[in-house]
Amino acid sequence: MTGFKVGYFVGSLSTKSINRLLAKALVGLAPTELEMVEIPFKDLPIYNYDHDASFPPAAVAFKAALAAVDAVLFVTPEYNRSIPGGLKNAIDWASRPYGKNSFTRKPSAVIGTSPGKIGTAVGQQHLRSILSFCNSPQMNAIEAYIQFEPGLITEDGRVTNKGTEDFLRKYMVEFHGFIERVYTVLPRRS
Ligand code: FNR
Repeated sequence: MTGFKVGYFVGSLSTKSINRLLAKALVGLAPTELEMVEIPFKDLPIYNYDHDASFPPAAVAFKAALAAVDAVLFVTPEYNRSIPGGLKNAIDWASRPYGKNSFTRKPSAVIGTSPGKIGTAVGQQHLRSILSFCNSPQMNAIEAYIQFEPGLITEDGRVTNKGTEDFLRKYMVEFHGFIERVYTVLPRRS
C-alpha cells in the first residue's frame, strides 16, 4: 500500500494530557506506511480576520506544517461537551485566509479519550461538524471513544490492555486504507 504523511493534533495543551498518551500509543501502533508528525498549535495567537492580510510567523509555520501532510488525525479531549478552545482556534487559523483552507480535500480522522464513559463522543460530533464545513473527507468508521483508566497507557505510549491495543492498531490500519481510498477518487491537484 502507498505511504502517507499524517499530521496529528493533540487537542489538549496540558502537560499531563491523557490524549497525548493516546496519541503516543497511536504513533507506535500505526502501520509503517504512515509517517506520523505532530502539528503543534500552542503558540498560535487567538485568530481574528485582521490577520488575513499578513499571518504572524507562528501561523505561517502552522499552515506550512499542514500543507506538508497528506492527512490529519485529531486526538482530542471533550471540553464542556465540545472541543477545547485551543483546538478550535487552530482550526480557525487553518481554514483561513478565505480560499486557502488547509483542510479542503485532506482526509481526516477523529479519536479521543476521557475518564468518562462516553469517551469524548459528544466533542467528536462537534469536531465532525466543523470538519465537514472545512471540506475534509472524514473516516466515518471505525469510531473510537476511549474511556481512560489510570495505567491504560504508559508514559512512553505502551497500551497495557490487549483488547484496547488491538483496537487502536486496527483503527490506524483502517485510517491508512481510508486515506488511500480518498486519494484514489480525489487525486491531488497538480
Ligand atoms: C473536562 N472534562 C470533560 N470530560 C468529558 O468527558 N466531557 C466533558 O464535557 C468534559 N468537560 C471538561 C471541561 C474542562 C474545561 C476540563 C478541564 C475537563 C474532563 C476531561 O475529560 C479530563 O480532564 C481529561 O483528562 C482531559 O483530557 P486531557 O487534557 O488530559 O488530554
